[in-house]
Amino acid sequence: MIKLGIIGAMEVEVETLLGQMEHQTPTQKAGSVFYEGILSGLPVVVVRCGVGKVNAALCVQILCDCFGVTHIVNTGVAGSLCAELDIGDLVVSRDAMYHDFDCHVINDAYQVGQVPGFDTVAFPADDDLVKDAFAAAESVNPGHTRIGRIASGDQFICQKDKKQWIVSLTQALCTEMEGAGIAQTAYRNKVPFVIIRAISDKADDSAEMDYPTFEKIAAHRCAQVTASLARQLKQAE
Ligand code: ADE
Repeated sequence: MIKLGIIGAMEVEVETLLGQMEHQTPTQKAGSVFYEGILSGLPVVVVRCGVGKVNAALCVQILCDCFGVTHIVNTGVAGSLCAELDIGDLVVSRDAMYHDFDCHVINDAYQVGQVPGFDTVAFPADDDLVKDAFAAAESVNPGHTRIGRIASGDQFICQKDKKQWIVSLTQALCTEMEGAGIAQTAYRNKVPFVIIRAISDKADDSAEMDYPTFEKIAAHRCAQVTASLARQLKQAE
């Protein structure tokens, strides 16, 4: 039976889901509240992890060790890295990698972005979850979803040059601050995951203006997709 761990970094990214959840039981761990309950008929645990890769990773580990989740979804907002993805559009992860991990100077066998000890530079999402998440996204915003790479780092990207640098390094569709940390931790625990993100800004010089304006709309849209994904997983059981 599926038990879905759902992670958002900020209140705005989880409030819609908490509003739809039934039978909520809160448990506090490591400064986050984990809400067990039922979403769209499916057993879930929803947590606001806080911003950044470390916060995200530790919540994945707690979801695995203390709550026995079988699958993980990360929902939230992101900056677009490609012209075709506009504000409000959706991205489903094929895989996720870091744009701020760099050990290549100590060993040029390591690519920029690669974590030493891992045989891959990007952590692959689960194929079935990707298909289901894409279908859920299409049901919420038809014709506005792409599947591809997500680039993560502990930085809010709001400069054209930095954006271009990340694009040429990663070929990612969007950038945010938790996805690859979630992906790496899920990968180590052999728990299937997918990241779903709605675009809140263009990760360039317009981002400082756009982000506060569109954050809530994008976060809500992404939460709708996550609720729809939970419904589909329940129906397929
Ligand atoms: N989340 C939403 N927009 C972002 C950006 N431009 N950079 C990093 N994380 C983001």
